Amino acid sequence: MAAKTEEIELQLLLEALYQQYHYDFRGYSMASVKRRVAQALVQFKCPSISALQEKLLHDPGLVPHLVAYLTVQVSEMFRDPSYYRALRENVIPHLKTYPSLKVWVAGCSAGEELYSLAILFREEGLESRTIFYATDINADALKKAELGIYDLDRVALFTDNHRKSGGKSSLSDYYTAAYGGVKFDKTLRERTVFSDHSLVSDSVFAEVHLVTCRNVLIYFNRELQDRAIGLFEDALVRRGFMGLGLKESMHFSAHTDSFTPFVLDQRIYQKKG
Ligand SMILES: C[S@@+](CC[C@H](N)C(=O)[O-])C[C@H]1O[C@@H](n2cnc3c(N)ncnc32)[C@H](O)[C@@H]1O
Repeated sequence: MAAKTEEIELQLLLEALYQQYHYDFRGYSMASVKRRVAQALVQFKCPSISALQEKLLHDPGLVPHLVAYLTVQVSEMFRDPSYYRALRENVIPHLKTYPSLKVWVAGCSAGEELYSLAILFREEGLESRTIFYATDINADALKKAELGIYDLDRVALFTDNHRKSGGKSSLSDYYTAAYGGVKFDKTLRERTVFSDHSLVSDSVFAEVHLVTCRNVLIYFNRELQDRAIGLFEDALVRRGFMGLGLKESMHFSAHTDSFTPFVLDQRIYQKKG
């Protein structure tokens, strides 16, 4: 099929998904969307993107499955341990000066980042005064985050990351073996509000002291990246902190002037006062 035709079909598919179901992938980086739609065609046995579009318009049950294809779920606990070490050593001392704290984990996937932060905050004595907001657009991932069950074969990596992040305890203190995997202690999520929230179309819902949004903006075009960072700026208290993924930066953002680099090599920024 001609590349141009496929381009048109892809635009129409995303438009249908938006107009009918309000999921807006139109401003995502297209290389990744294209790859994921190609996989979805095989899974849903559709000979073309147009055929998938037709199926989608008439079958709402397909939507969560397609959204699951379009959202990349790669994650791990204490991913990039140096980021968590920088939070622990540089950001936590500032957060300790507040009597109560709110933390927003935006694009939390199946909860790996949330549990990492909850453990870090517990180790640093901040957990009991913190409320966490864990948000994502992938309903299935949010359900998994609420369960906190992970495959056993991921635990060695999680444990190693936790140690490298400067962990003050043993990761095994926080989980029990269950359902052929490990289940993280429910007390770790007692102070968490899980919620469906899109950085593309929803607005700010709380004032927070730290927002961590890692490896989400890489899937957005420049305009959407700016929108998301604008949301974080609005949500943050003065001198609040924002952490991005190591491949993400504020460099070209329209909001650059509102932040100062705090630990630049770990992509941690502070909102100006
Ligand atoms: C690669 S994962 C990153 C997970 C975790 N933050 C990390 O760094 O390990 C990207 C996450 O962004 C979510 N996502 C994609 N588009 C989103 C949007 N518009 N609003 C909120 N989350 C979104 C996906 O569902 C997915 O869970």
